[in-house]
Amino acid sequence: MCGIVAYVGDRTAYPILIKGLQRLEYRGYDSAGIALFNGEGARVYKCKGKVKDLQALVRDKEVGGSIGMGHTRWATHGEPSDANAHPHASMHGTFHVVHNGIIENHVHLRSELARRGYAFRSETDTEVLANLIEDVYREQGVSAELAVRLALTRVVGAYGLVILCEDEPGRLIAARKGSPLVIGVGEGEYFLASDAMPIIEYTDRVIYMNDEEVAVITPDALDLKDLYNDVKTPEIKTIKLSIENVDKGEFAHFMLKEIHEQPFSVTDTFRGRVAAGGDKIVLGGILDVMPRLVEARRVIIVACGTSWHAALVGEYLFEKYARVPVEVEYASEFRYRDPIVDEGDLVIAISQSGETADTLAAIRRVKGTGATRLGICNVAGSSVSRETDAGVYTRAGIEIGVASTKAFTSQITVLAMMAFLLGSKRRTLPADEYRELVTGLTRVPEMIAGVLEQEAKIKEIAHLYKDAPNALFLGRGILFPVALEGALKLKEISYIHAEGYPAAEMKHGPIALVDERMPVFALATSDHLYEKTAGNIQEVKARGGKVIAIATRGNEEIRGLADQVIEIPPCHEALSPLLAVIPLQLFAYHVAVARGCNVDQPRNLAKSVTVE
Ligand code: F6R
Repeated sequence: MCGIVAYVGDRTAYPILIKGLQRLEYRGYDSAGIALFNGEGARVYKCKGKVKDLQALVRDKEVGGSIGMGHTRWATHGEPSDANAHPHASMHGTFHVVHNGIIENHVHLRSELARRGYAFRSETDTEVLANLIEDVYREQGVSAELAVRLALTRVVGAYGLVILCEDEPGRLIAARKGSPLVIGVGEGEYFLASDAMPIIEYTDRVIYMNDEEVAVITPDALDLKDLYNDVKTPEIKTIKLSIENVDKGEFAHFMLKEIHEQPFSVTDTFRGRVAAGGDKIVLGGILDVMPRLVEARRVIIVACGTSWHAALVGEYLFEKYARVPVEVEYASEFRYRDPIVDEGDLVIAISQSGETADTLAAIRRVKGTGATRLGICNVAGSSVSRETDAGVYTRAGIEIGVASTKAFTSQITVLAMMAFLLGSKRRTLPADEYRELVTGLTRVPEMIAGVLEQEAKIKEIAHLYKDAPNALFLGRGILFPVALEGALKLKEISYIHAEGYPAAEMKHGPIALVDERMPVFALATSDHLYEKTAGNIQEVKARGGKVIAIATRGNEEIRGLADQVIEIPPCHEALSPLLAVIPLQLFAYHVAVARGCNVDQPRNLAKSVTVE
C-alpha cells in the first residue's frame, strides 16, 4: 500500500528518496512523487506510474536540496493520476504533505473548507488535510507544528504523515495514527519511512512512532509530543535487517526466492524453540501468559487473506491436539460484529506485516473484555505485536513478494508449535504422540527441500494449464485451507479465476463448472480422508475434468486416477499443509511468469493493507 520516505540532513535528498521509493515498490502502488527543499521553496515532481516514470520526469530538472519527502500512492480516493499523486500542497502553497491512510471525514472537511474559499486540485483526502492545516495556521497564527496538531484533532481516520511548511524550512513534521511511520536515526540526519526498508542501508537505529504522536525533526534534533502537547521520550531500537535480506540474489523474482527460502525460514521459525530430542517446545514470547492459555475455554483467531488460511490450519491443530474449541474469523467482519468475548477466551491475531488495518482493529475490538490477546507476526515491532498481551514472532525473514509464501509456512509452524505445546500442557496430547509431532516438525525443512526439487516438473504442468480460464482446488480436513491458499495464489498473480473448495462441497455447485478446460487440483495425500478425496477425483474425471493430484510418494493407485501427479514425502498428517502448499506456490508462480504477469507486484494488490 502507499509508501512514505523522507530525509532531513546534509546529504542531497534526491538519491535517498528515489532509492527509498524503489525499496517501497514491493508494497504495491500506482503513482509516485517527491518534494525537494533547498531553503528557497519546494520543487514537487509527481506522476502516475512507477518510480522509473518519476525518474524520467525529473531528468534534466533541478534536484538539489537536503530535505525532501517521497511517496508511492495506492489509490483510495480518486483514480491513479498525476493530480492525485502525492505530495499535495495546500492552496496557498504553505504546506506540502505526503500521507498514508484514509481521512474518513474528508467529505465534511472538504465542504467546510470550500465554504471558506479553499479550492482543490485533486480528488484526494490528503489535499483536504493540507488545506485544513493551512487554514488553522493562517486563522490562528500559530506555529506549523501546532497547526498540524490542532488540525489532526479534527481528523477521523488513519494517517502516517510527513509535512513541510515553506515558512519554516529546515524541518519536517511527522505524525502517525493507525498507519506506521518509522524514524531512522543517523549522525546529524534523520530518515523517515512507512517501513524500515528504505532506512536499513543508512542506519539500524530506529524509532517506531506511536499513534497520536507528532515529531518535529531537524538534522540535529527530534522533538516528540502527543497531539495534546505532552512531551514523549523517543525509544530508539536496533533493527536486525540487513541489505542482503532485500536483494533477489540469483532468483528472477522475490516470490521465487521466498518460495525457495522455505526450508530455511521454517527452520528459523522453530530454531531454539524446539528441543532436539523432540520432547520440548519453548515459546518465550508466551511464557508469561501460559497459565491463561492452558485455562482458555475458547480460541478465536482473527486474520485476513493468506494469514486467515493459516488460521484455518490452526483451527484443525488446536482442536485436535489441545481439544479447545476454535473460531476463525475474518478480521474485517469480526471488527464490526458484536462478538461475545470474555476472560475465558484467547484471541490470536495472525499477520505477516502486523499492520493490516482490519486485523489491528479486531484486536483492539476485544481490548478490555478480559480475553488474552496474542499476536503471531513476522515484522518485529509492528503494531499487532505491540498491541497484544504476548505473542510469537514467525521469524520468516522479510517477505517482499506481494503474494505471501514463506510467511504462510512459518505461521503454520508457529500454530503447530502452540497447538502441540498446549496439548501437552492440557494433557490432551499423549507424550509419545507429542514427541512424534515435534520430531516430525524438525524434519519438515528437508522435506520441503525435496518438494522444491520437483520445480521443473511443476513448471511443465504450469505451461500445460497457463491458458485455462478457471481453476478449482479441492482439499479435505487440514488440507482444505491449503486448497484455499492454492486458489488465492493463482488468482493473485496470474489473474486466472480460481476457487478453493472442501472436496465434498464440489457436488453442491462447482461441479457444474468442470469440463476439459478446467484444471482441478486435488490435495490427495495419504491421510485418513484419502479414500474420500479419491472418490471426488473420480467425479471430476467422469465429467471430463483434468486432475492434478498432490499425493504422497508411494501411492501408485493415484496415477491411474489423475492426469498429473506431484508427490510430497510421507509425513504426519498434521504437518502435511507445510508440504502440500509448496507445489501450489510454484504452480502459481510459473503460470504467472508464462502469462507475462508482474509476479512481485501484481495489479491492484498491496503488500501491507493499512486501510480497511
Ligand atoms: C496473499 C496475501 C494477503 C495477506 C493479507 C494479510 O498472498 O499476502 O492475502 O495475507 O493481506 O496480510 P498480513 O498477514 O500482513 O496481515
